[in-house]
Formats: sequence, structure tokens, C-alpha cells
Amino acid sequence: MKKILVTGGLGYIGSHTVVELQLAGFEVIIIDNLSNSSKEVIHGIKNITGVEPTFEELDLRDKEATISFFKKHSAISGIIHFAASKAVGESVTNPLLYYENNLSTLITILQQIQHKENISFIFSSSCTVYGQAETMPISEKAPVQQAISPYGNTKQIGEEILQDTAKIAEGLQVISLRYFNPIGAHSSTEIGELPDGVPQNLVPFITQTAIGLRQELAVFGNDYPTEDGTCIRDYIHVVDLAKAHVTALKRLLDEKHETSFEVFNIGTGKGSSVLEVIESFERVSKQSLNYKIVGRREGDVISVYADTTKANTILGWKATSTLDEAMLSAWEWEQKVRKTK
Ligand code: NAD
Ligand code: UD1
Repeated sequence: MKKILVTGGLGYIGSHTVVELQLAGFEVIIIDNLSNSSKEVIHGIKNITGVEPTFEELDLRDKEATISFFKKHSAISGIIHFAASKAVGESVTNPLLYYENNLSTLITILQQIQHKENISFIFSSSCTVYGQAETMPISEKAPVQQAISPYGNTKQIGEEILQDTAKIAEGLQVISLRYFNPIGAHSSTEIGELPDGVPQNLVPFITQTAIGLRQELAVFGNDYPTEDGTCIRDYIHVVDLAKAHVTALKRLLDEKHETSFEVFNIGTGKGSSVLEVIESFERVSKQSLNYKIVGRREGDVISVYADTTKANTILGWKATSTLDEAMLSAWEWEQKVRKTK
């Protein structure tokens, strides 16, 4: 059984990926500092798979503790690195927190593994690296544009650090997955997204409004040059996204990669407007949502959706869930969370 380290494995995408890794027969060790998650998530994972993953509570900014961890666990074959801070607005007000937490931690890990004989590494990148691309859908060949926020910049610099390191570290192979917009939760409702405070993202705001936690959803602008005037995004079910990590990891472990640093877009290939997401929610929840149109949100790009040809053909992965399925899972998770609070 191959041992895989999942940093940030108690977080939203990490926890769903741990489940898929266990189901695929991997042994998982999680590192998390619980800064944006809780230990309860371990029980959720165990309730789904029947296996409790090993958990080390560790802050990757603590260099000594990280070095000791890698000394203790020398038999790791792969790392999926989720641990990072991800609030775009906060990254603007506190850029150094983001550069430290998202980049110095990455460097520390790479220093510990760069001399290993064989190590597969999956990096959590984002479609934010493309900014507002000129052509849609966005392929991996689209240029990386100057980042709008320090958070976005950490993803661009993170990819550069990995690409440069993989060039010289013979045993290191890297795949960077550029996620589009992850939504939804595991169908068991054992794990899901737990936003801290008022959600900034669309889908948790919708479900929290529907459950009565928020009064109404503000739709940020309906005067964009799109069919219904609202912005377009590529919303991907988090379980599809989690499975992409397992596929990417196997590609590296089976030595099927073509270069030591590869990039794949992970989305559905379908763009949905904000109003279409609301309609989907209303359809699956069988209730109408209280919302109003307000002004644009600063920094929002008009339209972003993936060309998934490379992921479909070369990686051999494809998203299978529909927007309705993802929205239903988000709604079921919200109801479960509120019932238990
Ligand atoms: P999340 O906040 O739910 O998970 C991140 C986890 O990492 C949390 O459990 C947190 O406690 C942990 N963590 C943070 N800093 C740490 C540190 N210094 N040491 C140890 N653990 C630490 O976020 P998520 O939505 O699951 O995102 C996972 C990754 O995917 C992040 O790198 C994020 O930037 C990236 N990403 C997320 C999205 C999204 O919309 N959710 C989109 C694109 C990319
Ligand atoms: C956000 C992040 C981005 C990250 C991406 C994927 C910001 C500025 N950007 O982008 O870095 O890569 O998630 O997870 O946070 N909307 C509303 N009302 C709301 C919330 C959102 O109308 O209350 C609209 C937005 O204007 C946007 C769409 O819904 O058009 C999606 O918003 P959101 O969920 O925040 O994701 P992104 O803006 O794509």
C-alpha cells in the first residue's frame, strides 16, 4: 500500500480527496494545523471509508517540526499539497501572511524531498492564474496573466517554484491542477465545505440564505456582456475534483507523465451564469431563493470556463456530475450542518 501525504487534508477539497485516495487503496497521512478545519472531519472520513487516516497536527510554517515529520516518515511515495490560505480579500490586506503560508511552506517541503529517489507531487493551483483570458474556453496554453491578488500570485509563483525544482531534482515529478470553481459536498453528507463566517463564494452564500442564516443573496452585477448579464464560471463537483487528484497521482506513480512538471485544467468545460446557478438551486431544493441584483464586485472577471481536452485525453479524467447534482449535494450538506449545530 503506497503512503501518501495530504497536507491540508482536513480542509474542504483535501477531505474529499482523502476519501477517494483511501477508496483507491492508498494509505493516507494528513498534516493540518486546523487553521481552517476541525478534527471532527476525521470522523466524517472514517464514516465513509471505514478507515481512519493518520493525522499529524502540524503547522507547516514550523520548519523544525516539518523537518522532523519528514525524518519520521521517510516512506512517502506521494504528496498532495492543499495546505494554504485561500481568502482573496484577506490576501490583499495581509499579503505577507499569504506569501509565508502559501510559499514558504512549499519551499520547506521541497527542501525535505528534493533529494528523494522517487516522489510524486500534486499542487493545488487555480484558474485564477489565467485572469480574464482572451478566448473561451481556456486551455492550458492560455498565457498566465499578472495576478490580481497576492493569493493569485502565490499560485503563479508556486507553480514556478515547482517547475524550477522539478528540473533539477531528479526524483521529483509534479502535476499542477488548475481548479475551476469547486462546489458541493460528499453525497453521504459526512464531509463538505465549512466556510468561516460570512461566505465569500456564491454557492455557500446561496445555501446559507436558503436555510435562513443570511437574509438575501446579492448578485454582483447583471450588466456584464453575457447572455443574462451575470458572470460565468465553471462549477465543478468537489468529488469529481477529488478524483482528478487520484488520477493525477497514479499518472506520476505509474511514470506515465511526459515531463517532470505538467499542468491540467480541472473543470467541467461548461460555463454557468450566476442566475443559472440560482435556477439550479431552486430546481433541486424546490424553493425560491431570496436574491437581488446589486453592483459589480471589484476584481470579478466576466467569464471563466475550462477547455478540458487535455485533462480528458492525456490525464484520462472527466467530470461526471451535473450542476444540479452538485447543487443538491451542497443543499443536503447545508441542511445536515444546521441540524447538528
Ligand atoms: P481549506 O481552507 O478548506 O483547506 C486548507 C487546509 O489547509 C485547512 O484544513 C487548513 O487548516 C490547512 N492549512 C492551512 N495552512 C496550513 C499550514 N500552515 N499548515 C498546515 N495546515 C494548514 O481550502 P480548500 O478550499 O480545501 O483549498 C485547498 C487548496 O486548493 C488550497 O491550496 C487552495 O488555495 C486551493 N484552491 C481552492 C479553491 C476553492 O475554491 N476552494 C480554488 C482553487 C484552488
Ligand atoms: C473565487 C476566488 C478565486 C478562486 C475561485 C475558485 C475571489 C475574488 N476569487 O472566484 O480566486 O480561484 O473562487 O474557487 O474570491 N457572486 C455573487 N454573489 C455572492 C458571491 C458571488 O453574485 O455573494 C458571484 C460572483 O460575482 C461570481 C460568481 O458568483 O460571478 C462566483 O463567485 P465566487 O464563488 O466568489 O468565485 P469566483 O469569483 O470565481
